[in-house]
Amino acid sequence: MSVKIAPSILAADFANLERDSKMINASDADWFHIDIMDGVFVPNISFGMPVLAAIQKHAKKPLDVHLMIVDPDRYIETFANLGAAVLTVHYEACSHLHRTLQKIKSCGMMAGVALNPHTPISSLSSIIKDIDLVCIMSVNPGFGGQSFIENTYDKVSELKQLIQLHTSSCQIEIDGGVTDTNAASLIAAGADVLVAGSYVFKAKNPAENIKLLKSI
Ligand code: DX5
Ligand code: ZN
Repeated sequence: MSVKIAPSILAADFANLERDSKMINASDADWFHIDIMDGVFVPNISFGMPVLAAIQKHAKKPLDVHLMIVDPDRYIETFANLGAAVLTVHYEACSHLHRTLQKIKSCGMMAGVALNPHTPISSLSSIIKDIDLVCIMSVNPGFGGQSFIENTYDKVSELKQLIQLHTSSCQIEIDGGVTDTNAASLIAAGADVLVAGSYVFKAKNPAENIKLLKSI
């Protein structure tokens, strides 16, 4: 199966969300990646529910919602009602991760867990069977346009082994600094989903760059 591409709306033109959503609809992209930041878990605030609702009106592909917020349990039902297909919470933001994941699934969404660059893959060994998607952060979360952290490749390989050991169907997503220069190595290491913000939206022809990533 070919890699999934999830363009990150954080790098889109917020004054033209309808246009950029339609570009994603017509492109080879698989998912919309939506970054929600609260200014507490990460040192930045992106956008919240009304903007997600506006995107949802135009999006014709699954919404992959990445919550960079503290205490995400408060909003699980809200994001389900807003049409999220995948809801990813941060390992570092959840004291009762097992309960959080069960709640996400009971609301009909795929349950994702994101790991900050400093968080080891081994943190997930007792919970991997309950996770539908692990998002390995390849930059420190909070901002688009940062450089890719090189030890991500080793983390992807280690996670792939953990998933195989547990015969789990968990998908591996990479988020941050993804471009056509690192995509092939990420896929070779086991990546299933590539998130790309700047690489897509700062390009002259965003749909062309999506196509390029998809064909790697
Ligand atoms: C960072 C976000 C990413 C970001 C990726 O905290 O989670 O999704 O938009 O942007 P690029 O691809 O520019 O690193
Ligand atoms: Zn993200």
